[in-house]
Amino acid sequence: MKYSDIEMAVDYIRGKIRISPKIAIILGSGLGSFADHIEEQTIVPYNEIPNFPSSSVEGHVGKIIFGKLQGKYIIAFSGRVHYYEGYSMDKLAMPSVVAKLLGCEKIIITNAAGGINEEFSPGELMLIKDHIKLCPDNPMRGSNYREFGSIFKDMSNVYTKSLREIAKDEAYGLDLTLHEGVYAYMTGPCYETPAEIRMLKLLGADAVGMSTVPEAIMAVNCGLDVLGISYITNMATGISGVSLSHSEVLEAGKYINKAFTTLVTNIIDRL
Ligand code: HPA
Repeated sequence: MKYSDIEMAVDYIRGKIRISPKIAIILGSGLGSFADHIEEQTIVPYNEIPNFPSSSVEGHVGKIIFGKLQGKYIIAFSGRVHYYEGYSMDKLAMPSVVAKLLGCEKIIITNAAGGINEEFSPGELMLIKDHIKLCPDNPMRGSNYREFGSIFKDMSNVYTKSLREIAKDEAYGLDLTLHEGVYAYMTGPCYETPAEIRMLKLLGADAVGMSTVPEAIMAVNCGLDVLGISYITNMATGISGVSLSHSEVLEAGKYINKAFTTLVTNIIDRL
């Protein structure tokens, strides 16, 4: 993707909004209702934005919602596209660049994930402290623009420590379980095999999912602070013995919504 393609998308969005957001949030599967709490909304559907990828998968309504939460201007990406839908990785990562060019300094990236760590239970949240990406593709691969400097970025602090501390603090205040762990990125669309989950566990992963990492890498590339939150919708293949279905994963997302919304709202209040 060319930088001018991204600029075209951003110019279109700028023409639709009157605010200057400082915080962006990407809402994972089933978490779209978080956006109901945003005030003074302006909605821009993904499929109206030039060059912006728009989703086809159930449970991923594609729109950007601009508005106010806790007195702060935010931008919420409700729904996202995934590698398994056939998009190139730089397209998946476009929300991060768009957020940056619209003036955001921080991005909260959320997802549904399968729990690998046996201390986790479905319905709980995990703060992402680091990730593992086995898929060789990268959103910066073939990047032909240098607006954000070198593409050889340091990855030692993808998920900003100070933001994680705020999240832990707020979870504690709400008496909410918030695990912290390593997120393994698998591209899907099929769920993992039991052997793959055993491998990921050996590698140090605590949860597995099919999103977030492309956007997080791009966020680091363009200098955004990142907070990653996974909600554990199920235990990963072979951990609990039940077989997985997309509809059950979406259904589980609904139960977690309230705790998630309160936690994220409180975190945004602190940013
Ligand atoms: N694996 C991959 N992605 C997921 C899972 C899972 O078990 N649950 C929710 N998203």
